[in-house]
Amino acid sequence: MSWLLKTPKDLGCFEGIDGINNIKVRHRLKKHFFDDSYRINPYQRPNDKKLFKFWKNRATIFKLINNGNIYLTDELWFSVTPENLAQFTANYVRHCLPNGNCIVDVFCGGGGNTIQFARLFEKVYGIDSNIDHLYCAYKNAECYNSAVKLKLIYGDWEESLKKTLVKNLGKTPDCIFASPPWGGVDYLRQDTYDLEEHLQPSPLSKILSVFFSVCQNVVLFLPRNSDLDQLSSITHDLLGPDEKCKVVYVKDNGYMKGILAFWGRPFYDFSEYYPTEIEEEESHELNNKRSSKDLEIKMEDLY
Ligand SMILES: C[S@@+](CC[C@H](N)C(=O)[O-])C[C@H]1O[C@@H](n2cnc3c(N)ncnc32)[C@H](O)[C@@H]1O
Repeated sequence: MSWLLKTPKDLGCFEGIDGINNIKVRHRLKKHFFDDSYRINPYQRPNDKKLFKFWKNRATIFKLINNGNIYLTDELWFSVTPENLAQFTANYVRHCLPNGNCIVDVFCGGGGNTIQFARLFEKVYGIDSNIDHLYCAYKNAECYNSAVKLKLIYGDWEESLKKTLVKNLGKTPDCIFASPPWGGVDYLRQDTYDLEEHLQPSPLSKILSVFFSVCQNVVLFLPRNSDLDQLSSITHDLLGPDEKCKVVYVKDNGYMKGILAFWGRPFYDFSEYYPTEIEEEESHELNNKRSSKDLEIKMEDLY
């Protein structure tokens, strides 16, 4: 496969991973590395006007974006998890799984969450069906010095999780995280977001049943107006009447971005402490530095 990627360093990330067997996809990836595609010039506004507000708030997406080493497709501008929130999620999961080594980030996109997990866990697998997004995730992870901890898997979520990952990993991951597509901005037009009808690429019950067949510790990032009754009833249908789902509401800078839903004993038996204090690596030159105190957290157990 050495002909595929530009440098040995790049090769390491994709080595041994199923999913880029398709010749067209290999060429596309090779071309991206060669052309340095999708690198963001932080001081140049994107052509698409719809992306302006994301560009203006770019330092909330990746704090290092103004250094000029971040890569985003148009879709990633609005779908990457903001860094504060991704840091909180990774810190929380680390706190609940102190002995965990391996996280799987299904729908890993541009690596917003993957990179923060890699900061705290030994091995992180990222799965995405868009090769451009995987390429961006890899480049962004390089910017955060965490590419070495990643394995990126190109393919559909279900097949990759069941076949490729289990085959590569040979053991159960400690946690599956996923931030599935919400189906566009229209999700806010509804009072309540129907998780069976609108969640992409499959209804919530389908996504969860596949995840639970691989691992009992699952975390999902879902719309803030998600139907909580649905969350509760799907939990009982899949896991039994005694199981529950923990929901964490996260406001970033006064704005509710979404909810985090947690399944699995380590997350229920959670102590009162939670790590809202986010360390910032001194080596990073942070432009537009924002405090973790912007985050407000509220928790609720759904029975
Ligand atoms: C909301 S984005 C994830 C953002 C990510 N958490 C981040 O911080 O960059 C959802 C991702 O799901 C991917 N996706 C959509 N359908 C998929 C499928 N069937 N299998 C795997 N990935 C899929 C999209 O390509 C997109 O990158």
